[in-house]
Amino acid sequence: MRIALLVLAGSLAAQEPAPAPDGKALYLAHCATCHGNEGRGDGPTRVDPRPRDLSSGLFVFGNTRDAIHKTILGGIQPAMPAFESVLGEAMRQAVVDHVLTLMPETIEASEAQSRMAVGSHAVVVRGHLPATREQRFALGHGLVIGVPGGFTAEYRSDDVRYLGTYAGGFLDRTDWRGRGGTPLRLLGQPLHLESGRLPAAPFRTGQNVPLAARLTATAVRGPAAVLEYELRSENGATEARVQETLRALDRPPLRGLVREVRITGTGGGGFAGLFLPPGTPQGGKVLEERTVPERESLRHWRVVAQRHAGQDQDLWLAVRIEGAARGAADAFPGTGLLPFATGSDLARIRILIATSGDAGVAARAAVAEELER
Ligand code: HEC
Repeated sequence: MRIALLVLAGSLAAQEPAPAPDGKALYLAHCATCHGNEGRGDGPTRVDPRPRDLSSGLFVFGNTRDAIHKTILGGIQPAMPAFESVLGEAMRQAVVDHVLTLMPETIEASEAQSRMAVGSHAVVVRGHLPATREQRFALGHGLVIGVPGGFTAEYRSDDVRYLGTYAGGFLDRTDWRGRGGTPLRLLGQPLHLESGRLPAAPFRTGQNVPLAARLTATAVRGPAAVLEYELRSENGATEARVQETLRALDRPPLRGLVREVRITGTGGGGFAGLFLPPGTPQGGKVLEERTVPERESLRHWRVVAQRHAGQDQDLWLAVRIEGAARGAADAFPGTGLLPFATGSDLARIRILIATSGDAGVAARAAVAEELER
């Protein structure tokens, strides 16, 4: 009798539509122990590496619906378990819904859009870079970052090397789904390209040994894009962390983009943070270069202007570097490198890459204002 009742109850329930899984409850049950109730990466279970702060939106494997689903499905070795056999498809999708509510607002590009444009938010796209043009080195995987206003920066993603800036349209991508495959097609015109050889690693130790940069996360914060990367020495130790923010520069007559780089030491002590100012473009003229060492800080400016034959636009490359100095030392002689102290807050760098139709005084003043901001 008892058995019959149970069967009946089961068959009644089967006729009701299954209730939608509660993504928040599933998140609290399966994820919050590491990621925290609000997703801040501060749950009671301590693992190494630290659980991602989901509320930052800074993800390594992508923050789209598909990418988050893949992360939940397969986990991340060694610290995050896979949920493929723990949560069913509908449950996983409900958890993804909940994770998306923890993140800051971002733009999710859909497969339908192959020609991508940049609206009021920055856009970060990963993919294969086309191996053509002036760059005579393997480009491989890249990051293409569009900021509002029609400027696009290109980076190699393996070593976070800046490769160039484009003006105009953004990107045509046809490589959805398949990993690798078709390269991205940039739609803008090159404004400034690191050409010929691979640009030198911008960060070096005090012994002038290049530090390898490894991308840890990317994010979109409204009109700005953020790259986070670590600087590692030859033995693999992380010497410093870098946060680089890209945003549009619109200070008439200047238009272009700004890279704001902030370097934080890990306290290991072996690192003298150094930065190589961007090279002088061919046909460029250095308008200003000065380094001001003070007792505990170092400031460096460099402003370069270039005009291509037959064009009525100037290209401006300007950099301001500020940091904790190592003693009162000058820049390492003859290297163009700057000696920063080791410590927690190493340096801030602001790099402008911009054009101005109006040559001369007004643009020069705008460069100075923007550098001093
Ligand atoms: C045992 C701890 C643990 C649990 C449980 C856990 N995670 Fe994670 N999660 C991590 C760690 C650690 C990382 C970072 C891994 C790394 O950087 O290598 C991470 C990373 C992530 C990321 C970011 C991936 C990226 O692209 O950067 C997402 C999204 C995520 N977890 C979602 C979830 C969800 C959703 C759940 C529950 C279904 C969950 N995690 C359960 C530890 C955990």
